[in-house]
Amino acid sequence: MGCDTSNCGACTVDLDGASVKSCSVLAVQADGSEVTTVEGLTSNGEWTGLQRAFHERHALQCGYCTPGMLMAARDLLRDNPHPTSDEVRHALEGNLCRCTGYQNIVRAVLDASEQEVRT
Ligand code: FES
Ligand code: FES
Repeated sequence: MGCDTSNCGACTVDLDGASVKSCSVLAVQADGSEVTTVEGLTSNGEWTGLQRAFHERHALQCGYCTPGMLMAARDLLRDNPHPTSDEVRHALEGNLCRCTGYQNIVRAVLDASEQEVRT
């Protein structure tokens, strides 16, 4: 829980292949759906390319927004594997970083988009 007003995006999860703000989804609405949280991104303890790019680009400070940023960016890269900087910014506009680390977050997503690896 980040804001409880559907503003921050920190609670973003993947619901049946689309990123949603989980604070605005009732549990009954997710009944029978496949839900992936940020913890579900790793496979056998291996980070995804997107996670590595966040690490290498220092795309987090306090880390509060990071799960939501990762899930929203993952959703973007699935739909648009090679976005422009503007497209990344547009896709992440529903996710707020209180530490204002937006430049490095955008760089990390662009880095990940250049890798031919699982995001
Ligand atoms: S907790 Fe902020 S959008 Fe869900
Ligand atoms: S890294 Fe602190 S809120 Fe984004």
